Amino acid sequence: MSKSYVFYQGKIVDESEVSIGIRSKAFNYGLGCFEGIRAYWDEDQNQLYGFRLKDHYTRLLQSAKTLNLKVPYTVEELSNFTIELLKKNNFKRTTYIRPIVYNDAQDIGPSLTTPDTKVVIYCQPLDKYAGKSELSVGFVSWRRLEDNMLPPRTKATAAYLNSALASLEAHQAGYDEGLFLTSNGHVCEGPGENVFIYKKGKLITPPASDNILEGITRDLVIRLGKEELGLEVEERSISRTELYASDEVFFSGTAMEVTPIIEVDHRTVGAGKEGELCKKIKELFFGLTVGKNPKYAEYCTPVYK
Ligand SMILES: Cc1ncc(COP(=O)(O)O)c(C=O)c1O
Repeated sequence: MSKSYVFYQGKIVDESEVSIGIRSKAFNYGLGCFEGIRAYWDEDQNQLYGFRLKDHYTRLLQSAKTLNLKVPYTVEELSNFTIELLKKNNFKRTTYIRPIVYNDAQDIGPSLTTPDTKVVIYCQPLDKYAGKSELSVGFVSWRRLEDNMLPPRTKATAAYLNSALASLEAHQAGYDEGLFLTSNGHVCEGPGENVFIYKKGKLITPPASDNILEGITRDLVIRLGKEELGLEVEERSISRTELYASDEVFFSGTAMEVTPIIEVDHRTVGAGKEGELCKKIKELFFGLTVGKNPKYAEYCTPVYK
């Protein structure tokens, strides 16, 4: 197996040199926040492109600020470290990048006031995340966390127990993935992805006020819907039965990319296969991740010279 390099505290080092102690607050209490980023490989150009690095690191620094974790790097520095890391690992395929900011203090108590913040970035090849091209999902009994409880907007590591419980319940019930409702019964999001419905010619997705993570892929799908497909896009609360009665439903997310949902709670969505709109959005999305669409070229940072 080839060596794996990671970014740790300002340096690129061999992964075997980095570990986390059993007393770390990150391990004991989940005190940290993270990002999930992709770099897309393009065979024609023999090039790997970091995708929307600036947007992901801006979100990471905002999350860290909310959690009182002090990061000594700028968005630009973190983006440059990431390009260096991808180069050092010599990845020549689509890759997932995981930056984590965490509190590594070793004393007892879930305090965020201590100054022991650490920053690590690792990466690994990742093609399809879902393992399937069309999904069957189910609403889970767990409710989504709320902004005044454990803010989903911060992509806090601790919040992913809520996601993991949802996925567990969905998988145990035989679904490919779960869907959360908010505590007041609105459609929220998946454990690691945003959700869209398409109904009567309108593209609709839950608003930030419904306790979603404001996804970077969600933002792009909204832009593509408006600018490339001339659609009316609404960010508003969605009820469960409105989702059942949609023409199309799909997920968006960095890992999940754009993936159609063809069944919800054992009810067929639309025609029970990937819809035309989802297909068009996917084509537009994959057409711009490798720098070939000049309008969106600024999203793509080449790794190799
Ligand atoms: C809970 C949750 N919602 C939505 C998303 C999608 O966000 P993005 O498109 O920025 O990856 C993610 C993935 O990071 C997530 O963890």
